[in-house]
Amino acid sequence: MSRTYRTVATLTALLLVGVILPGCSSQGTASPPESTGAVPGSGGVLDGASLVETKCTTCHTRERIDAASKDLTGWQTTINRMITSHGAQITTEEQSAIAIYLAGK
Ligand code: HEC
Repeated sequence: MSRTYRTVATLTALLLVGVILPGCSSQGTASPPESTGAVPGSGGVLDGASLVETKCTTCHTRERIDAASKDLTGWQTTINRMITSHGAQITTEEQSAIAIYLAGK
């Protein structure tokens, strides 16, 4: 239970960094999070398992991913490297969902 809580807290933190901060620079009325339909921590934001299948198997196989065992921070670092070094097309929200899925499997 506490592990789940930490994971949810980390996801929320990631979403804050990825969604709220860029929004700060643009003036205007921030719409309430509910209006987006994506509720952080609800577990229904994005499906990490299917994201791995669609986003992470274009350059190498799923086996390469399953062979690795990392914690949440390790997966975030790895996914970030896939984006910055190899050009993977993955959004901030997708990164969070994938990292949480892989860290928990
Ligand atoms: C644009 C191509 C590309 C995409 C998309 C991609 N990777 Fe990679 N990945 C690579 C390359 C190239 C390597 C080998 C070099 C390296 O490790 O940086 C690699 C290596 C790896 C490794 C083994 C090295 C390690 O750090 O354990 C893992 C695990 C991995 N990728 C996970 C992922 C995950 C998870 C995703 C989806 C979020 C992903 N990759 C998407 C190109 C890609």
